[in-house]
Amino acid sequence: MKTRFLNCAFVLLSAFTASSVLADEQVDLGKTVYMTLCVACHQPTGAGLPPVFPTLLQTEYVSGSTERFAAMILKGVIGPITVKGMVFNNMMPPQEALLTDEKIAAAITYVRASFGNTYPAVLPAVVTAARSKFTDRKTSWTEAELKAWPDSQAAK
Ligand code: HEC
Repeated sequence: MKTRFLNCAFVLLSAFTASSVLADEQVDLGKTVYMTLCVACHQPTGAGLPPVFPTLLQTEYVSGSTERFAAMILKGVIGPITVKGMVFNNMMPPQEALLTDEKIAAAITYVRASFGNTYPAVLPAVVTAARSKFTDRKTSWTEAELKAWPDSQAAK
C-alpha cells in the first residue's frame, strides 16, 4: 500500500517536472521566435508601438482562448480592432506558411509568460488542431469574429 502510494507520488512528480521542463524549453524557443519575428512590431518589451502596433501586456487576446491566439498567428488579423481601449487599424500578417506548430506554440507560450503576463503554457497540439480546423480559411480575422470566439474568455 505504502509502495503504491510512493509510486503514485513519483509518477505525479515526474509528470509535473516533465511539463515544467517542457514549458521552460518552449519559453526559450518562443523567445527566439519572438525576437526574430514579432519584435519588429510588438517591440522587445511587448508594449508595441501605439497607435500602430498594439501592446501584448495583459490583453484579452493574450490571456483568452488559446485556440483563438493560435488562429490569429496562423491567419493574421485585419483592423480595425480595439485593444485596451485603443483602436488599431492596421494588419498583422499570417504566419501559417512560415512557422511550424511547435514554433507558434512556443511564441504564444513566451508571450503568455513574459512582459508581466503569467498565463499557462500552450502545447503545439493546440496549434495543430487550429491549423486543421481552419485549413480552408484564406483571409485574416476581423474583430467581430475574434470577439465572437466561442471560448473567448477562457484563460487556458
Ligand atoms: C508586421 C507587424 C506584426 C508582426 C510581425 C506581428 N504582429 Fe501581432 N499585431 C500586429 C498588428 C498591427 C495587430 C493589430 C491588428 C490590426 O491592426 O489589424 C496585431 C495584433 C496582435 C495581437 C492581438 C492584439 C493584442 O495586442 O493583444 C496579438 C496577441 C499579437 N498580435 C501577437 C503577435 C505575435 C505573438 C507575433 C509573432 C509570432 C506577432 N503578433 C507578429 C502586428 C504584427
